[in-house]
Amino acid sequence: MTVGVAREVTAGERRVALVPSSLKPLLSLGITVVVERGAGTDAFASDADYEAAGATIGSRAEALGADVVVCVHAPDESDISQLKASGVLIGFLRPLEAPGRAADLAARGVTALAMELVPRISRAQSMDALSAMASLAGYKAVLLAAEQLPRFFPLLTTAAGTVRPANVTVLGAGVAGLQAIATARRLGARVWGYDIRDAVREEVQSLGARFVELALDIGDMEDDAGYARALMDAKARQQASLLVPHLSKSDVVITTAQIPGRSAPLLITEEAIQAMRSGSVVVDLAAPTGGNCALTRADTTVIAHAVTILGPTNLPASMPADASYLYARTIAAMIREFAQSGQFEAAFDDDIFKSACITHGGRVVNERVLQRLSA
Ligand code: NAI
Repeated sequence: MTVGVAREVTAGERRVALVPSSLKPLLSLGITVVVERGAGTDAFASDADYEAAGATIGSRAEALGADVVVCVHAPDESDISQLKASGVLIGFLRPLEAPGRAADLAARGVTALAMELVPRISRAQSMDALSAMASLAGYKAVLLAAEQLPRFFPLLTTAAGTVRPANVTVLGAGVAGLQAIATARRLGARVWGYDIRDAVREEVQSLGARFVELALDIGDMEDDAGYARALMDAKARQQASLLVPHLSKSDVVITTAQIPGRSAPLLITEEAIQAMRSGSVVVDLAAPTGGNCALTRADTTVIAHAVTILGPTNLPASMPADASYLYARTIAAMIREFAQSGQFEAAFDDDIFKSACITHGGRVVNERVLQRLSA
């Protein structure tokens, strides 16, 4: 069986789906890896590094023609036409945002596995690419904020006087949020965390942050899968308004709130931005799904009421070496899970496979993708 790694062509993307250090577990199953020439350059993995690790360097057509093709972003139409009919494709395929792509893959006869649909269950932890990327984003969001903030993060005592530490609030304390809290703490800020799931209060506190308590009568908003449920409209408006007094005391706000499969909840209104101190910074990690802040514009720096609002949509690409390393580990774990015999086998009786598989046997097989296609 061959595994192919093509160079990413999406604008701004610098990651690669497999790195040299991730090849060993695949080669040990008798798998051959073919990497498109230059595929790892932007992630600081050279062709020579891949060759030294046991891969073959080839053309784009050779990489795309492999039995299993791995990618960060879904291939475009012309690349799909080069995939092996009845081959396998694994990557972030954005099946719910771009269901038409799934239809194209089905028409090509490809078995496609979307990394974003890997369930967050213990057995799938090593394949949880979304969490790995969210951690990177949480970390980098704080660095971006620190860069923009016209103040220090830590308490600083100098001969000229003492500077108070920055107040950082992190809204949404899932994977990205907890990493943001930990990073802001390491930089010496006073940190608050907020979430609608009760379960995370202790995690926030164990990182040395305080939990923002809102007088919002909603009970525990965690569903059976451990994700948050969406607030009803009236409660959502009340939440945003209760947050204003707290946000007005924050120098930095990092927002990461999301409900899987829905657009991001609005937590920061323009009124809240207006109430913040001049020079404050908001980094809205939910920008790809519409943003948690009313004024966020994807990949644009907005300055409103003297507050800087950043909405980066692909922070993992700004750390391509470690992002590729972690992503590659999840990809390699996925291949190993379903190719123990050295051949990739569809396993619809397996929860992970069933959840991640979007096309097989010439059909779209994921219910949510089918719903989007017929909408
Ligand atoms: P997650 O699902 O682990 O965490 C989201 C958290 O938001 C959950 O703890 C949930 O309870 C909370 N939440 C939902 N509704 C809320 C509300 N109304 N108020 C307060 N909290 C609420 O998600 P993860 O993996 O941490 O990702 C967070 C966000 O970061 C996502 O939107 C994801 O797309 C984004 N992301 C952005 C990147 C970028 O470069 N901009 C890169 C990676 C992830």
